[in-house]
Amino acid sequence: MQDFASRLWSPTSRFHPGQLAWSRYHRPVDPSRLDEGEAIAIWTEGGEVLGFGWAEAPDWLELQVAPERPDVAAEIIDWFEEVSDAETQSALVMEDDVAEPALAAAGFTPHADDPFFTHHVLDLVDLPPVPRIPGYRFRHVGPHEARDRAAVHAASWSDLGASTIDEQAYEQVMAAWPYRPDLDWVAVDADDRMVASALVWLDPARGAGLLEPVGCVPEHRGRGLARGVTLAAVHRLAEVGATAAQVSPRGDDGYPAPQRLYRSMGFRPCARTVTWSRSLD
Ligand SMILES: CC(C)(COP(=O)(O)OP(=O)(O)OC[C@H]1O[C@@H](n2cnc3c(N)ncnc32)[C@H](O)[C@@H]1OP(=O)(O)O)[C@@H](O)C(=O)NCCC(=O)NCCS
Repeated sequence: MQDFASRLWSPTSRFHPGQLAWSRYHRPVDPSRLDEGEAIAIWTEGGEVLGFGWAEAPDWLELQVAPERPDVAAEIIDWFEEVSDAETQSALVMEDDVAEPALAAAGFTPHADDPFFTHHVLDLVDLPPVPRIPGYRFRHVGPHEARDRAAVHAASWSDLGASTIDEQAYEQVMAAWPYRPDLDWVAVDADDRMVASALVWLDPARGAGLLEPVGCVPEHRGRGLARGVTLAAVHRLAEVGATAAQVSPRGDDGYPAPQRLYRSMGFRPCARTVTWSRSLD
């Protein structure tokens, strides 16, 4: 699935390989087997992947289909119907995705006003400098810092509900390709306590990094730390040879702060997602 996502990658495609890794491992799961209610199927022809369906849960389908084979989308949706027992089902795709006609034919309808994500891209040239913020510094994590790294992530997202990240989950994240600790950045205070973070996933085949996720703990917000740690991570991304960075914050008015953060450092919007849903009752 990650190879396929890499092959199809552009800033406007649904998945960066790092997104698949983060989506799979950002909660404690058994890395060697699927969760209850989860299912995955991959379509191939002559050894080449043409698409995949990932029922993350019975009511939620992720899919990606080779643009030249839209017919595969209908097969993935048929498969999802077989493995799912949910009465209401949703799928998240890019606007104008090749799968849209198959979703429509299967009774899904687009919900353009539901919360959505806007893909943003930044060319890694003429980057703004990493700011100096008194009392803090930026560094990347070490290989044995899963517990503290999980804690800063969980605290940063705490006002949006309980986080599923713990030390075990973060160890899984760190073990997943293409994670590398020198692209996992934190802001630390004078006592080296982590207070903000930015994780970048590099797809070496595309020279493109994905920021997922970024956060700052509530007590330290509004001081430029999320912007600073993101820039520090992106500078490192450029140093290791990447030419582009992508990030996909919410694009709807319900949660506008993150996209302001990314636009303030030069990221530009290029595509959005749409949720399609159907009810089978
Ligand atoms: C969004 C978040 C990362 C911002 O962290 P932060 O350290 O306070 O952000 P910064 O101080 O670096 O802000 C940089 C820019 O982002 C924008 N911004 C940040 N928080 C904002 C807010 N609440 N409302 C509006 N704009 C905001 C501003 O443009 C700001 O620039 P300015 O100070 O010149 O106005 C933090 O609130 C957070 O962790 N939220 C929960 C997790 C999350 O949503 N992560 C991003 C997901 S893509």
